[in-house]
Amino acid sequence: DDNLLKKIVAHAKEYGFVFPSSEIYDGLGAAYDYGQNGAELKNNIKSYWWKSMVQMNENIVGIDAAIFMHPTTWKASGHVDAFNDPLIDNKDSKKRYRADVLIEEYIAKVEAKINKEVEKAAKRFGDKFDKDQFVATNDRVVRYTEEIDMINSRMKAAIESGNLNQLKALIEELGIADPVSGSKNWTDVRQFNLMFSTELGSLAEGANKIYLRPETAQGIFVNFLNVQKTGRMKLPFGIAQIGKAFRNEIIARQFIFRMREFEQMEMQFFVKPGEEMQWYEHWKEQRMKWHKVLGLGEENYRYHDHLNLAHYANAACDIEFNFPMGFKELEGIHSRTDFDLKAHEEYSGKKLQFFDHQENKSYVPYVVETSIGLDRLFLAVLTSAYTEETLEDGSERTVLKIPAALAPSKVAVLPLLQKDGLPEKGREILDKIKYDFACQYDEKDTIGKRYRRQDAIGTPYCITIDHQTLEDNTVTLRDRDTAKQERIDISELKSRIEELVSL
Ligand code: GAP
Repeated sequence: DDNLLKKIVAHAKEYGFVFPSSEIYDGLGAAYDYGQNGAELKNNIKSYWWKSMVQMNENIVGIDAAIFMHPTTWKASGHVDAFNDPLIDNKDSKKRYRADVLIEEYIAKVEAKINKEVEKAAKRFGDKFDKDQFVATNDRVVRYTEEIDMINSRMKAAIESGNLNQLKALIEELGIADPVSGSKNWTDVRQFNLMFSTELGSLAEGANKIYLRPETAQGIFVNFLNVQKTGRMKLPFGIAQIGKAFRNEIIARQFIFRMREFEQMEMQFFVKPGEEMQWYEHWKEQRMKWHKVLGLGEENYRYHDHLNLAHYANAACDIEFNFPMGFKELEGIHSRTDFDLKAHEEYSGKKLQFFDHQENKSYVPYVVETSIGLDRLFLAVLTSAYTEETLEDGSERTVLKIPAALAPSKVAVLPLLQKDGLPEKGREILDKIKYDFACQYDEKDTIGKRYRRQDAIGTPYCITIDHQTLEDNTVTLRDRDTAKQERIDISELKSRIEELVSL
């Protein structure tokens, strides 16, 4: 729903979550800045991920590697040669597209036709409807399915063989037109590397070219032995990291979903060769569980198994989230084999092996990785949280129902009036809790307006100080989602809030 995305973008800007980068200069394509509330939310997401990965797992440790790495890293990892997008231009509109994305969008349209047929039939047959049987036997649906299979296998063949003009041929055969101009006049397809490069120091021309990392994973691979030895880690074990990654994306749109500078939360899990599939299944399941506990709505997630595998993987899937643009990749789980460590051994001439005492031999471990885009999770949180509603008293509000544990501020302290000692009492309470919880303090405007402001930034609890507070040391605690209030003793505030905002 384009409209929902627009509303989220506007809301995120108005309430200090996300601003276009360098906005006073009209912004920079696909770069965004996180504002005062966005930075808090982002930190909370990071901390939740870090705690559940590193703190909760004895055999996973975290590192923080540099963004700049020796240029040979990217030769070994395959990114110099294989981290490319196949681009195609429309000769009439001069617009540039990813050839594979044009084809995938075509496939999505065919899938939509299948879904339509299924829906129609489901209505017709009612209770007796057997979807699997219908899909397998209905002539039209079978034809659509065959077409999709044909397109997928030709796309895979084109990408694997590097013969990109097979993609052009496919685009022409399918009659795919430029979505902007309708023209079918396409250029040849060519490879475009996604890595940003820059220069290090002042060496002779060309000798000092380095890249901004396009994934954080390589910082983990090159430190595999450092961590294994110093941490005395035994297989299976994991190394986790949160950090920036950079990709010169051609189609950079849809807000913070696809950016040129973004953040990843990755974990590389090193296992004994032969056990990778079992761990791949394990992490696939664990990561889905993690998402579902977060509280963004279980129905908003699904798996998508990859047919076209990246250059390093032997099995891969995405966890997709129901963004305003539909179901899209949120996290990837990849079985990367020993591809990376082997390649780094070869290029560096250093052994990157684990000595297995039981088997009395050394080997290069296999790797299963989980990789999630922090910014995408941020967008997922906003998507599920954004709600426009009418309250019981008839008033309308826009509220961000962010899970309390992630909310930028946990509590707002609101003296009912700006007199009679209520602000002083409010500050006294604030001082008691502000070290433990991110707090807001607000004494301007009517209490209703102040509640609306807190709703809009997703503050889960509001403490109101009134005249009764001065008499009996109780305050009201208002719940963001239900707008219900409870009266509570000040001495119990801290433990009560603690209980309410923990996951
Ligand atoms: N180390 C594996 C890896 O980087 P990937 O599927 O290319 O795999 C992992 O990226 C995750 O990073 C994606 O699932 C997505 O959440 C996030 N991501 C990738 N490109 C992004 C971009 N341009 N903007 C925002 N997030 C991105």
